Amino acid sequence: MNTRVGTIGNASPLTADANPMIDPFGRAVTYLRVSVTDRCDFRCTYCMAENMTFLPKKDLLTLEELDRLCSAFITKGVRKIRLTGGEPLVRKNIMYLVRQLGEKIGSGLDELTLTTNGSQLSRHAEELYECGVRRINVSLDTLDPDKFRKITRWGDFAKVMEGIDAAQKAGLKIKLNAVALKDFNDSEMPELLRFAHGRGMDLTVIETMPMGEIDEDRTDQYLPLSELRADLEKQFTLTDIDYQTGGPARYVRVTETGGRLGFITPMTHNFCESCNRVRLTCTGTLFMCLGQNDAADLRAALRATEDDALLQAAIDEAITRKPKGHDFIIDRTHNRPAVARHMSVTGG
Ligand code: 5AD
Ligand code: SF4
Repeated sequence: MNTRVGTIGNASPLTADANPMIDPFGRAVTYLRVSVTDRCDFRCTYCMAENMTFLPKKDLLTLEELDRLCSAFITKGVRKIRLTGGEPLVRKNIMYLVRQLGEKIGSGLDELTLTTNGSQLSRHAEELYECGVRRINVSLDTLDPDKFRKITRWGDFAKVMEGIDAAQKAGLKIKLNAVALKDFNDSEMPELLRFAHGRGMDLTVIETMPMGEIDEDRTDQYLPLSELRADLEKQFTLTDIDYQTGGPARYVRVTETGGRLGFITPMTHNFCESCNRVRLTCTGTLFMCLGQNDAADLRAALRATEDDALLQAAIDEAITRKPKGHDFIIDRTHNRPAVARHMSVTGG
């Protein structure tokens, strides 16, 4: 019996499974990321083409179905769920799912979080907190409103700032995520760092990953974080620390600001050894790795019967296929993405 899940008498409707998810490499899968929509109200140049084609709405799982899937994963040992997209807050009635999942915190689930571009945050911040969300990630690549418009194509910087204000006021802890882009925001990193830490937020920088066709040349955008770190060390004292959030970031403490800075380095450093997560899309496809194409269709098992046994068996089978790691490489000769689907399908 897995005593880590649902052990508090009969308080929990989610019963623990005797058979938690352990992949072929001995890694326990305890973290589920759910892309609730592939749509977004921004068009970040490194993420999407301006005229992106999205999934037909009829292919989406309902929010009830997503809830049922999440419950099955919690039963199988998932302790943390992150809602992503696309932009999760543009999905119609998304707060219904947030509320349903929030009710599972403390009975199987430890944490419910969200990754958002911040555009709709001011409307939802209070309710997110009320539903049990305590920490969110906000994507923010620049503090310059003109550059912000340039990189997101459609985004409004002031609106995102409003969202950050509202979220902090509601009591949500924020981590900022910035994609490191060569000749775009590299020189701005010290400012972004001071801004984040000045407001009590952690900052994580991410290397661009070759996922999906975009309008631009990715090799022009790619900036290895080792370079960025060396640059920052001219101004700041960075000390490696052990801090872990359940994600792939490696953290340093910045002496001058007192804050934490994370590095997500899928390209220059293999971050796969400690991978504890799988990714579910809004159509019920499970990706066992962000950087591989292999996937499992859970929608068929979900819809075949009300009984979860089939679904759990489908999840077990999928986990046996979790690969050791990704195959991201920047293909400089062909300029082709390593993975054809966009980040917005599976979330970051
Ligand atoms: N490479 C790296 N990060 C990306 N994101 C979106 N597309 C890419 C990509 N190709 C980031 C977003 C957000 C997070 C979910 O992933 O900016 O911060
Ligand atoms: Fe939308 Fe995030 Fe992609 Fe930007 S990076 S277009 S905010 S999904």
